[in-house]
Amino acid sequence: MPGSVLAADDVTFGYGSELVVDHVSFSIRAGEFAALVGPNGSGKSTLLRLLLGLLCPDAGTVRCLESDPRRLTDRGRVGYVPQRHTLAPDLPATVEEVVATGRLARRGWWRPANPTDRAAVDHALESVALDHLRSRPVRELSGGQQQRVLIAKAFASEPELLVLDEPIAGVDIESQQLFRDSLVHLVREHAAAVLLVSHELGAVADDLDRVIVMKRRIVFDGPPADLTATGVSLGVHRDDLPLWLEGLG
Ligand SMILES: Nc1ncnc2c1ncn2[C@@H]1O[C@H](COP(=O)(O)OP(=O)(O)O)[C@@H](O)[C@H]1O
Ligand SMILES: [Mg+2]
Repeated sequence: MPGSVLAADDVTFGYGSELVVDHVSFSIRAGEFAALVGPNGSGKSTLLRLLLGLLCPDAGTVRCLESDPRRLTDRGRVGYVPQRHTLAPDLPATVEEVVATGRLARRGWWRPANPTDRAAVDHALESVALDHLRSRPVRELSGGQQQRVLIAKAFASEPELLVLDEPIAGVDIESQQLFRDSLVHLVREHAAAVLLVSHELGAVADDLDRVIVMKRRIVFDGPPADLTATGVSLGVHRDDLPLWLEGLG
């Protein structure tokens, strides 16, 4: 695991007696773009929460940026967009203000925003196609748009590690392309590690370094080409992906 940005070593976890994460081991390096896929209920969101220190494993160890995730002092280095998370319903802040908070950890809250901060916010807003709504209060946005605000906030922070839990469910193809461009930029230009949970891998199929298939345990971990060689196409038949995953393992 040395040099890895995110790692699980023989991690086991259950809610009560129900085992949800079953002896899972894998690691992700800087500059690696990995997708985590699996049927609904296969433990993906739980595994992410374990890796980020929001849950504690029953057995095994997790490492995040080479430390215990619960002891990570500089949270600004990690971006996390949880599944179906919306903002507080009475939050008075505008879209732009929420995205700009992604810069705080990086520049320090006491220092005013500089042109680099403003450019990062502009770019993040464009990457989720929300620049036209930048002055609107976030509470006036739909749930899907609020999710995109949180993605933009994570992009603006230029994290070393970005973890996204089904961020683009129901997003149109054109927006998915913008989203893909930003992820690839983060990985290739900033050598960030990205772990993406999604059933819709069509937009990123050609960019992924790894696909990890989980059904409470890891049933596949390798380059997408090895997965496609077994008969699945992440690009063309992406609607079939969840069904195909049911049959694996
Ligand atoms: N907070 C919780 N308490 C009890 N059971 C849970 C909780 N969260 C998830 N589960 C159960 O754990 C299993 C895995 O859930 P989850 O990690 O959300 O899977 P996925 O993200 O792959 O859909 C499911 O059976 C789910 O019902
Ligand atoms: Mg989930």
